[in-house]
Amino acid sequence: MDSFSALSERMPALRSSISSDPSRYRILTGERPTGQLHLGHYVGTIRERVRLQDAGVETLVIIADYQVITDRDTAGAFRENVYSAVLDYLAAGIDPGRSTIFTHSAIPELNQLFLPFLSLVTEAELHRNPTVKAELLASGRALNGLLLTYPVHQAADILFCKGNLVPVGKDNLPHVEVTRTIARRFNEKYGEVFPEPEALITETPELPGLDGRTMSKSYGNTITLAMNEDETAQRIRKAPTDSERTITYDPDSRPGVSALLDTASVCSGRTPQDIADEVGSQGSGALKALTTEAVNEHLRELRQRRAALVAADAAEALCSGNDAARQIAGETLEETRAAMGMLY
Ligand code: TRP
Repeated sequence: MDSFSALSERMPALRSSISSDPSRYRILTGERPTGQLHLGHYVGTIRERVRLQDAGVETLVIIADYQVITDRDTAGAFRENVYSAVLDYLAAGIDPGRSTIFTHSAIPELNQLFLPFLSLVTEAELHRNPTVKAELLASGRALNGLLLTYPVHQAADILFCKGNLVPVGKDNLPHVEVTRTIARRFNEKYGEVFPEPEALITETPELPGLDGRTMSKSYGNTITLAMNEDETAQRIRKAPTDSERTITYDPDSRPGVSALLDTASVCSGRTPQDIADEVGSQGSGALKALTTEAVNEHLRELRQRRAALVAADAAEALCSGNDAARQIAGETLEETRAAMGMLY
């Protein structure tokens, strides 16, 4: 059995432990602010994050701005992307009174943990990380030091608050593994400071973009949370389908049609197969109308709440989140330095 299947088998037990004793867990998870958050983020992790928060699990959400500069230039879009993400979180139901939303770059004490953590991994281990390898290839650039070491930086994101539960997609599992290794090695070397966090794999399979490829801003194949209903309809209308009239679910040979079925499925709770049967010979026009309605219906309340928020709401949530994160990071850094015999 590979490690992914082993991990997946553990999920039901982990989920039942979370619901019977939510106070045992502290969640740390988040996104890179590379663009606007979209439906894939929402159904993949944000929706579940809100459920866990509401179930009483302490939740910290990181907007990983330093992680953006691992593999791209983002000339000046940080502020816009970060504030847009905060509005999305608030509209989705992340409650800044109970949860902490913060940015990497605002927490120097978190970043300082990167130093001792770097000493606990070897160069060979860093080069083996499959996600880093894939990102390097996709970037088409030379490997820079931050891209090579960012999983260690991500370990600092998780461990600064002693997060012990990390809801992530499959691509981030190697980073949770690095985090566990670092926690274990630190504790062995200097005494028990950090928990070994567990990954919580989301139940929703990864949603493809509207054209069947990976969701990406540069492909124009996403539906962002910030779009209105007309913009959503327009995006779906432009999605590529094929010349066969009868709708069937077949992701390999009919990527466009199947992506629409997947999209309608995650928004309606029905299976793609069931939706395909209903649309049948009515063709892709009818499928697009059904998908548009499902998406707009699913996001309606979120978008209404988002429209009622103002920029100051985002600024206030982020300001108090950053203060709270700084406080926690300061305490952990002090404890870490004490364990290492470096408090002067
Ligand atoms: N690597 C994550 C992504 O690209 C973002 C992230 C940064 C993260 N730090 C994290 C996720 C800590 C979970 C925990 O989506």
